[in-house]
Amino acid sequence: MTQPPDKFESLLHEKRVIHPTAETKSRTYIKDYEAAYKQSIADPEAFWDQAAKELEWFSPWSKVLEWNYPWAKWFVDATCNISYNCLDRHVKTWRKNKVAVIWVGEQGEERIFTYAELYRQVNRCANALKSLGLKKGDRVTIYLPKIPEQIVAMLACARIGVIHSVVYSGFSAPALQSRIQDSEARLVITADVGYDRSKVVNLKIVVDQAVANCPTVEKVVVVRRQQPGVPLSASKEIDWYEWLKNQKPTCEPEKLDAEAPLYILYTSGTTGKPKGVVHVHGGYMVGTYLTAKYVFDLHDDDIYFCVADPGWVTGHSYIVYGPLLNGATILTAEGKPDYPDPGRWWSIIEQYGVTVFYTTPTAIRLLMKYGEDWPKKYDLSSLRVLGSVGEPINPEAWEWFYHVTGSKYPIMDTWWQTETGMILITPLPSIMLKPGSATRPFLGIEADVVDREGNSVPANTGGFAVIKKPWPAMMRTIYKDPDRYKSYWNIIPNCYTAGDVCRKDEDGYMWFMGRADDVIKVAGNRIGTAEVESALVSHHSVAEAAVIGVPHKTAGEAIKAFVILKQGEKQSAELIKALMAQVEKELGKIAVPRAIDIVPSLPKTRSGKIMRRVLKAKELGQDPGDISTLEE
Ligand code: PRX
Repeated sequence: MTQPPDKFESLLHEKRVIHPTAETKSRTYIKDYEAAYKQSIADPEAFWDQAAKELEWFSPWSKVLEWNYPWAKWFVDATCNISYNCLDRHVKTWRKNKVAVIWVGEQGEERIFTYAELYRQVNRCANALKSLGLKKGDRVTIYLPKIPEQIVAMLACARIGVIHSVVYSGFSAPALQSRIQDSEARLVITADVGYDRSKVVNLKIVVDQAVANCPTVEKVVVVRRQQPGVPLSASKEIDWYEWLKNQKPTCEPEKLDAEAPLYILYTSGTTGKPKGVVHVHGGYMVGTYLTAKYVFDLHDDDIYFCVADPGWVTGHSYIVYGPLLNGATILTAEGKPDYPDPGRWWSIIEQYGVTVFYTTPTAIRLLMKYGEDWPKKYDLSSLRVLGSVGEPINPEAWEWFYHVTGSKYPIMDTWWQTETGMILITPLPSIMLKPGSATRPFLGIEADVVDREGNSVPANTGGFAVIKKPWPAMMRTIYKDPDRYKSYWNIIPNCYTAGDVCRKDEDGYMWFMGRADDVIKVAGNRIGTAEVESALVSHHSVAEAAVIGVPHKTAGEAIKAFVILKQGEKQSAELIKALMAQVEKELGKIAVPRAIDIVPSLPKTRSGKIMRRVLKAKELGQDPGDISTLEE
C-alpha cells in the first residue's frame, strides 16, 4: 500500500514544514537527529573515531585529530587507501557481483560494472599508470566527458597514491592549460569526443592546444569513442584500450599515510587565478562515507542516481567516493536533463528503479518550465530520498520537485563546498523539512551565523555562515598557496568562513542566501568575477571590465558584464558577440555573460577597486548601501 502524502503545515505564510512519513522514518539510520547531534558534538573526535572504524585501515591512528590552527591532521599516523575501501572491501564480500556503476550514454547506450569488474578495470589502469613510471605524489590531469573511464582513472590514481586533478570537460584550452601547469601534471587522460545534445564536442583538440604549452606533460592517453579512431601521435599519445589491454587485473594498493593527498580540484575564488583545493585519503574517506550513508540513507538495495559531473566536487564526493565507500549501486548519465526530451531523467528513474535522486536547483527549475506532464508520464514510485545541491533552492522549485515525485519523498537540500569536501549543512531523511532551507548541521559539525567579529547574530538576521571546528573531509591546503588556505580561517576569528550569507531561523534552521564575495553561481557552477573580467580584458578592444551576478529564473544567477572600450573602439553588435566569443575561448561556455553593456566608466573606490556591489544595486534598482568610498 502506498503511504499517504505528507502534511503541509501552514504555520505562517511561506513557513510550511513537512514531516517525514512513517515509512521514511522506519528505514532511516538516524531516527532521532536531535539526540544524535547532541551526542556527536559533545565529543566530535569520539564521533569521528567511531565512524572511521566502519572502514578498513592498514594501520590504526594514534590520535583522531591534531589541530594546529588552522592546520588539521586527521587520523594521525594511520595508513589507508581510499580505493581499497571503495573496491577491495566490497569485492571480498557478497558485493563482489553487485552492480557498482550503471552508466547511461547520451544516445541511450548502457554500460554496467559490477564491483569485481570495476576492481579489475581500476587495477589494470593502476598498473598502466605504473608502466609509465607514475608514482606516489605525481599528478595526473583527467579531462574526460562523463564516461565510466573517468571513475576508473580516478580510482586508479588513488590506488597508487598518484594525485588526480579532474578538470571539467566544458573548460576551454587556456583554462585547462593553466590547471595542468599549476599542478605540473605528468600525464593527461582525455577522450576524443564528448556529446552534447548529439553534437560532437572535440575534446582532443582542446587538449592538443593546452598541452602544447605544458612541458611537464609526458604522455596523453586518449579514450577513443569514435570510429575510425582519431590518429594519435606515436611519441606522445596512447590509446586507452591498448594501454589497459595487457595489464594485470590486480595491483596492490599503496599503503598511504591518512594525510596523503588524494586529489587537487581547481575552483574559482575572488582572484583571477583558480585555486587548487587539496583533499587527502583518510579524513575525506571518513567524511564522504558517513555523509553519503546518513544523508541519502544508503542501503544495499538502493539505486543511487546523481546527475553531477565528476568534473566538479559533487561528482568526486557523491558519485565516486562516498557512494562506492558504501558499496552502493551508482547510476550516472551522460547528457542534459531535457535531451532528447524533458522526460529523460524521469524515464531513467522508472527504467532503473532509482531510489535516491540527487540533482540541482537549476535542473529542477529547467524541468519545471516543461511542466508536470513529463514527470507524470513515468512511474517514479521507486524513489525514497531526493537531493539538491550547488545553490540555494527557492521554495517554489523545492515544492514542485516534492510534488511531482509523489509528495512523500524527503528532499535533502545539501549545503557544502569544494573546500569542505563533504556535506556540512543538510537535513537527514528523518527530520522536519522547510522548503528552501538546508536545515541543520550534519552530525559532528558545529555551524553558526555570525557578524564580522564572530558574534552569533539573532534569529532571522543575515550574517556569515561559519564552521566552528575542523571536520575530517576539510581541504588541507590550497595547492602551492598555503596563505590562500589560511585566509579561510582568518576572516572571522577561530572559524572557517565559507563566503556565504545565511540566516538561522527560530528553530535553528539555516537558510542560505548566496555568496558574500565575488563568486557567481551560474547553474550551480562556480565562476569568479575576476576570471571573466580578465578574459574580457584580454580582448584587444577592451580597456576595463566588471562582472556581476544577476538573478536568473532558471540558472539562479546569470553573468552580466560592463565593459569600457579602448579609445577609438566603437560599440557594435559584432563587438559584443566577439567579446562573448572571447570569454568562451578563454574559459568555456559556462562563463559567457548573458549580457554585456558598454559603459563610459565604472564605479571605483579611491584606491581603484571596482565596486561591483554598486553596479549590482544599480542594475537591480536597489539601494547601494555605503558608498562613502566611491571615487565619484
Ligand atoms: O554558495 C554556496 C553554494 O555553492 C558554493 C560552493 O560551490 P562549489 O564549491 O562549486 O560546490 C558546489 C557543490 C557542493 C557554496 O559556497 N551552495 C552549495 N550548495 C548549496 C549552496 N547554496 C545554497 N544551498 C545549497 N544547498
